Amino acid sequence: MADPKSREGQRYDTAEIHAFLDALHGPHDKALGLAFSAPERTGLPQIQLGQQEGGLLTLLMRLIGARRVVEVGTLAGYSGLRLARGLQPGGRLWTLEYHPRHAMVARPALVAAPPGVTVKLLEGDAKETLPKLEIEGPFDAVFLDADKAGYAEYGAWAAQNLRAGGLLIADNVYLFGRLLEENEEAEAVRRFHHEAAEAFDTCVVPTPDGLLIGIKR
Ligand code: SAH
Ligand code: DHB
Ligand code: MG
Repeated sequence: MADPKSREGQRYDTAEIHAFLDALHGPHDKALGLAFSAPERTGLPQIQLGQQEGGLLTLLMRLIGARRVVEVGTLAGYSGLRLARGLQPGGRLWTLEYHPRHAMVARPALVAAPPGVTVKLLEGDAKETLPKLEIEGPFDAVFLDADKAGYAEYGAWAAQNLRAGGLLIADNVYLFGRLLEENEEAEAVRRFHHEAAEAFDTCVVPTPDGLLIGIKR
């Protein structure tokens, strides 16, 4: 996008445009539709990625031929299923979730991963589960979408545990519009941005809340 208004944050998408695009570009399969609607149906927060953001995850995994991927923040399994669908045969996804209720909703959804792709849901605080995962690395991609106060720590872990050329992807890097505020959470996400820019070739895709993508140097 390239005009002064859009540079200031004006957007051109509408609910009707999204409906048109989602009908055309998908997802078209039932399992992804169910995973996407699971938060609404089960009373979980409706904070999963958008449909087309999910499609971007699948496409990125295919582009890099991903086999070993870590997701921090499972919720109901929608983005996890999107990642899993882009993995090579024999690929593995580890997805980390703190809330037992979210994990319970996600488990059946993640069963729809492609045959030959293994998904492991690790319950608990990612600050504790990530160190235990190190032995499975190096990884091809890490997707961050959990507590934003943890982003600096998760980003540092990703820099340590991704292969050269591996992808760091992070949702909510505008921090709901609060990125530049003076509080601990915003400071942590700004620290994440600084560290990501240092260890990765980065850009931020202007999704509703910003999606950072970086290639590990
Ligand atoms: N990636 C999902 C949405 C994730 S919402 C999707 O697009 O479908 C954020 C999730 O992170 C919530 O389920 C929340 O419970 C989880 N979370 C928050 N803090 C966490 C932590 N410290 N460790 C692991 N998961 C955490
Ligand atoms: C929230 C978390 C997210 O990851 C997101 O994309 C939107 C909202 C939240 O915690 O409110
Ligand atoms: Mg998010």
